[in-house]
Amino acid sequence: MAGKLITSGVHYVGVSHYDRRFFDALVPTPEGTTYNAYLVEGKERNALIDTVEPEFKELFLHNLKATGVKKIDYVVSNHAEQDHSGCVPDLLALFPESKLVTNEKCSNMLRDLMPDIPADRIITIKDHDTLDLGGRTLEFIMAPWVHWPETMFTLLKEEKILFTCDLFGSHLATSDIFLDDPRLFYEPMKRYYAQIMMPYRGQVVKRIETVNSLELKMICPSHGPAFKNPALPLALYSEWTSVTPRNAVLIPWVSTHGATARMVDHLTNALVLKGITVYPHDLVVADLGRVAENLVDVATIALGSSCILSVAHPLAAYAALLANTLKPKAKFATFFGSYGWSGIKVPEQILGLLGSLKLEIIPPVQTKGAPTSDTYAALDQMAEDIFSRHCSLGLK
Ligand code: FEO
Repeated sequence: MAGKLITSGVHYVGVSHYDRRFFDALVPTPEGTTYNAYLVEGKERNALIDTVEPEFKELFLHNLKATGVKKIDYVVSNHAEQDHSGCVPDLLALFPESKLVTNEKCSNMLRDLMPDIPADRIITIKDHDTLDLGGRTLEFIMAPWVHWPETMFTLLKEEKILFTCDLFGSHLATSDIFLDDPRLFYEPMKRYYAQIMMPYRGQVVKRIETVNSLELKMICPSHGPAFKNPALPLALYSEWTSVTPRNAVLIPWVSTHGATARMVDHLTNALVLKGITVYPHDLVVADLGRVAENLVDVATIALGSSCILSVAHPLAAYAALLANTLKPKAKFATFFGSYGWSGIKVPEQILGLLGSLKLEIIPPVQTKGAPTSDTYAALDQMAEDIFSRHCSLGLK
């Protein structure tokens, strides 16, 4: 996505990381990602909005040079995380007259992460402070917790372009900064939301209100495509952050010898017959990004696991911990699985890992060895329990 003109005097100068396969060592990014940075030219001064991962410094500087810009007066840092701030010291060194512009919290975090940034090169701004570039004005809007406590937006006031850093990002490496067809970015954007934004859903809702109030013409995030139609990302975020879950069940499962797998098939079928959408994921081969995406919407998490010796399978524990970390809006949880000779405490072990979600627990189902007709009857009851609880929320 190098060398793209966003509008007159506003350039995309970021880089695509096509083969990045994990982000934060947590969730896969099968379609890579981008680190978006933008050059805003005023009549008198120029500003760079964010930088890129340090390993892409050369490419980034090449893209900046390709715009023909001769000087940078301000390097604006919306967020201290290194995928956007990692080249700040290089920019300050390359343009000795330039200043780093950011809020106090971000300034402190940047200097914690990169102690070589000189204090006398920093301009510290407050909420709604402005910066005159000559015929163009940048306004800084505090937006904590999208993604860290120091995050902020930068608004190019005259053009009504908002640079939102992580908010509205997508893990999608693409050669086009604008993608008109939502089908091209829906999945990478939801995957990104699930991993980065969902844990702060309450804060995200507040930031959406702020963004809505600005009557924007364009939203330019720092990962993935930018949006000429701000209503599009706002509508997606409105859906994903809504309080009400969907009539859907996520089943992350692991089976060592097939008994738990047969329980998955039975439970899935029973739920589908009741009109409930089901997302089963075999954790041995699952894309955890898809598991995270499904967590955005589902009302119930039903974890399935066999035992390893007499304790929970570690893959099931990982899935439970991932859900606990990402803080989805789910209301209910349950457990089912097979054990060999002892595994009676496994439901408690696994469901205990969801502790911060405060979910209502639906009675678990276990079988010793292969599932029997009694096991299947118990799973039918579990499906009925889930159905009745979904009905109590008015889900269809
Ligand atoms: Fe894209 Fe929170 O950094």
